[in-house]
Amino acid sequence: MNYLKLKIFIYITNIYLHNKIFGKLAFESILKFKHIGGDFMSNIFDNLADRGSVFKDKQFLDHRFLPEHLPHRDEQITSIAKYWIEALNNVTPSDVTIYGKTGTGKTAAAKFAMNQLKEATSSKDVYIRTEYIRCTDYTTEYQVIAKLCQQMGRDVPYRGWTKAEVVNTFRDIFKKTAFGKNMILIVVLDEIDILLKNDGDGILYTLTRTDNVSILSISNYVDFKKFIKSRVMSSFRDREIVFPPYGAQQLVDILQERSDLSFINDSLENDVIPLCAAMAAKEEGDARYALDLLRTAGELADEKESNIVYGALVREAKDKIEHNKITDLIMTLPVQQQRVLEAILKLTMDKEEITSGKLYEMYEEVSKGDSVSYRRIFDFINELEMLGIISTNTISRGRGKGRTNIISLQCDNDILEHALYST
Ligand SMILES: Nc1ncnc2c1ncn2[C@@H]1O[C@H](COP(=O)(O)OP(=O)(O)OP(=O)(O)O)[C@@H](O)[C@H]1O
Ligand SMILES: [Mg+2]
Repeated sequence: MNYLKLKIFIYITNIYLHNKIFGKLAFESILKFKHIGGDFMSNIFDNLADRGSVFKDKQFLDHRFLPEHLPHRDEQITSIAKYWIEALNNVTPSDVTIYGKTGTGKTAAAKFAMNQLKEATSSKDVYIRTEYIRCTDYTTEYQVIAKLCQQMGRDVPYRGWTKAEVVNTFRDIFKKTAFGKNMILIVVLDEIDILLKNDGDGILYTLTRTDNVSILSISNYVDFKKFIKSRVMSSFRDREIVFPPYGAQQLVDILQERSDLSFINDSLENDVIPLCAAMAAKEEGDARYALDLLRTAGELADEKESNIVYGALVREAKDKIEHNKITDLIMTLPVQQQRVLEAILKLTMDKEEITSGKLYEMYEEVSKGDSVSYRRIFDFINELEMLGIISTNTISRGRGKGRTNIISLQCDNDILEHALYST
């Protein structure tokens, strides 16, 4: 019996020692593994965050950032204010329309004026509301009015009601005066041309026929009024403000202010800002493009672990932006349009003169039986031309031979090839 007890004791001690020794070893090796594998086990973001950067705060180069000061837009902002000042005297301001090409500061100036008006209102005995609507997000009259109702505390669903129900709810807001005062509503309809093209001029009809509503419309196209019928035009007597493209020197001033906020001191070589400004001035004076160039050049400097941004990086940034823009555009085109582009690319590489007939033949070959009609190809050609990917040129073949459309690519073959074949 004693012998048995002794055996059990030895057995248990063995297990205990075994566990203790090998358990410790195993535990140590886990620790060791963690240590050896330190590069993997520590957080990857720590490593990336530790890398130096030319930026001190990139958000100031973001499109959505609204600067406190907008150089070279004083005149336009003052014009808006001259109309809106009426609201401070309890009079509904005239409707205003802002025109200008992309990146000319229309959205920024409108938002700036809205903020200024809010500030001015706080010390006055008036009830003014300003509401900003981006018509690329709210593309029908129903959606815009529903959004306005919701912003002003009415529970309106985004679908399901009739248009009349939504419009009546909207108009009710003005009947019931808040705190006994008349409310004046200023609605900023940014990119209004998209809404008008998509859903007609009903929105303007409704808003112009609601008391105490003033509209500030923003459009990239001077001819957006072609979408407005005369019955609406008669009550939409807007004042127009033009935003001209920025010149190179103006862009230098804009970039200078933004770069002081975003880059570490002395991290930009002297030619960087003038170069971004000159390139953007060529692109129709687009401040957004200028900011993109500057930000991308800074990102390239970080990628190359350079603590200085230099001119060559701006040129590289230009190619990168161009590349991404075209690639994004092409990758989101419908399949049949991509095939038309593929056919144009093949003919271009074969150095062929591209007539619509030749294009259709090549397109059929590319589509391998799944093709659309010859007539439909003309719509595609128009759309691709509007996007700036191709251009067409009508030439005369001489007497009695009629005229022919010659198509040519407007973007780099390599970029197109990459975009088409990487989808
Ligand atoms: N005068 C300026 N000062 C500082 N930044 C500016 C100025 N004008 C434009 N920007 C900046 O350039 C970018 C583009 O401006 P904005 O969005 O106002 O252009 P837009 O005319 O509305 O263009 P789009 O027609 O494409 O909508 C924004 O980041 C804006 O802050
Ligand atoms: Mg805008």
